[in-house]
Amino acid sequence: MPDIKRIGVITSGGDCGGLNAVIKGIAREAYALGIESVVIPHGYAGLYNLVKLESVVFLNAERVSRIEASLAGSEAGHSRVKISKIDDPDKYDRIKDGLKKFKIDALIISGGDDTGSVVVDLSSKGINCVHVPKTMDLDLQSYSVGGDSAINRIAVFTRELKTTGMSHNRILVIEVFGRYVGHTALRGGVGAEADCILIPEIPVDFNIVYEHMKTTFFARIERSDVKAGTYIIVVAEGIKNANGEMLYDESIPPDAFGHRKLAGAGRYVRQQLEKRLKSDSEVKDFMLRTGMFAPAVYEIPEVREVTPGHLVRSGHSSAFDVNFGYEAGAAAVLLLLEGKFGNTVVEVNGNHIYYQPTEKVIKRRGVDLKEIAIFETLGTCFGRKPQKFEYELIKVKGKIERHL
Ligand code: F6P
Repeated sequence: MPDIKRIGVITSGGDCGGLNAVIKGIAREAYALGIESVVIPHGYAGLYNLVKLESVVFLNAERVSRIEASLAGSEAGHSRVKISKIDDPDKYDRIKDGLKKFKIDALIISGGDDTGSVVVDLSSKGINCVHVPKTMDLDLQSYSVGGDSAINRIAVFTRELKTTGMSHNRILVIEVFGRYVGHTALRGGVGAEADCILIPEIPVDFNIVYEHMKTTFFARIERSDVKAGTYIIVVAEGIKNANGEMLYDESIPPDAFGHRKLAGAGRYVRQQLEKRLKSDSEVKDFMLRTGMFAPAVYEIPEVREVTPGHLVRSGHSSAFDVNFGYEAGAAAVLLLLEGKFGNTVVEVNGNHIYYQPTEKVIKRRGVDLKEIAIFETLGTCFGRKPQKFEYELIKVKGKIERHL
């Protein structure tokens, strides 16, 4: 068993819900076992600069009690730094010197796929670390803290948009974070009963979206005694345009991991719908029938995009993420003490701590398209011809291994 007396705690990549619970879980478990834990600030940038610090913050009982587990973000701070990209041939020695200076024997690092790739890198250089999965994108093989919080916030924002949408009879397009996968758009959208959900895993046919919108939105307004209705689209920022390209902000250079700043999916969807609304002769009849038509001023329904951006990962953490974060943080300490370096905590279920090599956990996981058809049967549009839900019944034999 490794002799670990002091643990360094790092959070890295995009912040999100549940991270403070991870930090508290680590600190309290370590404390219970007579081990010290300290914060290494600013993610991997802080790890690289550790040797220059004069002191580190100890996560003793008093300091930990001042961290609010239900607040999103991280008390330890973040950066998007890839150690191998730092232009310094002695970077790994410098990191080891920093760890030696503060007598830090091992690291617990919470982050997503990029962060995890650095965990693999550091482990291969003889730096002892264990990984706690964290990303609001939910694109890891395991659950990652932050996902549930983001989904709940997306659902709340989307649901709440309906009041303004209904007042103006607007079609509203809400663009949400999630990078290259559609988990948060899907689950947040379903959670808010969005009419249409567009995800990177499904190439969008805008004629299908348009027809669904027309049927749903027009009928909704016509049925209403006050002629009010809205149509809500949740779009994942990572959808591709007609050329099969993701939309990104060209003014921002790629980060150290090569990611572009995704932006413009909402605008693109709006433009696609506006184009079709303008060229559809039935739209004028609809506007006349519902008493909305005003020549040259209001001839087609308005489409607006809303981009909550970082708000979806800010604010408060969901209770689920606080639970997961506490348990995963505590479990990471136990993994370290067992010498399971280079591994990721997958989950704690009963008294079982599940873990897997970090290099496996960080393989990207997209939305399982087989499941989409069930929502299509229930009326949600996914920008494709609805498919039949092909199901299989499976009788559970042993114990049901579920968290909740
Ligand atoms: O990876 C998490 C995430 O929130 C993505 O969903 C989003 O594309 C990205 O981070 C935004 O990163 P940043 O805060 O660095 O702009």
